[in-house]
Amino acid sequence: MFTIINDFFAFELSVLIQNRDNSISDDILIPAKNHFSHIKQVGSSENIIEILKQYNYDLILLDDIELIQSIRELDKNIEIYCTCDYEDKERFFELMQLDIECVTYLPIDRTSLSNIFKRASKRIIMKKENIELNKKLDIRYSERMQKIIHHSDRQGKQLKELNKELSKHKEILEHGIKEATNDIFELNNELKFAQFETLEILGAISENHSLETSNHIKRVSEYSCLLGELYGLNTYELDLLKIASPMHDIGKIAVSRDILAKPSSLTKEEFDIVKTHPQVGYELLKNSKSEFLQLSATISYEHHEKWDGTGYPRGIKGEEISIFARITTVCDVFDALGATRAYKKPWSNEKLIAFFREQKAKHFDPILTDILLENIEGFFVIKEKYKDN
Ligand SMILES: [Fe+2]
Ligand SMILES: [Fe+2]
Repeated sequence: MFTIINDFFAFELSVLIQNRDNSISDDILIPAKNHFSHIKQVGSSENIIEILKQYNYDLILLDDIELIQSIRELDKNIEIYCTCDYEDKERFFELMQLDIECVTYLPIDRTSLSNIFKRASKRIIMKKENIELNKKLDIRYSERMQKIIHHSDRQGKQLKELNKELSKHKEILEHGIKEATNDIFELNNELKFAQFETLEILGAISENHSLETSNHIKRVSEYSCLLGELYGLNTYELDLLKIASPMHDIGKIAVSRDILAKPSSLTKEEFDIVKTHPQVGYELLKNSKSEFLQLSATISYEHHEKWDGTGYPRGIKGEEISIFARITTVCDVFDALGATRAYKKPWSNEKLIAFFREQKAKHFDPILTDILLENIEGFFVIKEKYKDN
């Protein structure tokens, strides 16, 4: 069998020849065999359609013009060559209107048929090559796409692994940060606790030195917290106040115990010495980096100032006095008057209430005084709870 081979493909071409009146002799067909490996001749038009339904031919050399349309409908790719007498102009023009590849003039001789089939076979091979090349390209494209998809899958898996690793590292990091934060939090708490303890000790020293009653600074701290809360301070400010308010008399450590313990009235000189304690306390604490100690310095400095400006050491008034000091002042006086001292008996609750009513907006902040009086039972509960032994 004859096969046409080029660099890539091998094609076997076939041709169907209508030879109605045996005008194309076997002799004429000999060169055709150089170009078509399969040649079939048919006489009657009736068989042609049936044959084409069963077999694929690359080319048909046709005599019956009436068959052209049916053949084209049956096979879009087949090359249709139709014979035409050289003188038959009418048939020629009719053929020009039809969907065929070539008009082949009669009579056909051996050379002209050889040339016609040679050109036809080249065209058909080119068409087939084109189709095969396209198929190959499609396959390569599809293979390439598969590779890309596979590669992407691999990359996707690697990415997933990487994400897992990252999540693990993130968890470790978060855990580390959490632990470090907890450590800082605990350290901070320890530091606060240490400061609180230091301040309590300082408060106790001042209390002891001043010969104050045993629970005075504890009660002042509790009263201050209650009054501050009722006034509207936030939790952080209340924490500061609770720790700093007991320090109000720390400056008294610079005043002689003889003066502080004197059961009778003080001379003017002695009282002038006592009156230095707010300034002394302030000087003692003002340069501290601790927020608690700085607030203690302010409270110490201003707890003998009065709302109407008649207090000491600076005679400042109203809201010039820190709210923390104004609160401490109310609580300190409330506790001092209600407690037993070397030189006096404790005041009754009624006398205390009357005193605060009278001193509202004079000695004390009027708003704080109102709050104290409106909530006086709460203060009496603290007074009872922490009463002196
Ligand atoms: Fe004081
Ligand atoms: Fe006090």
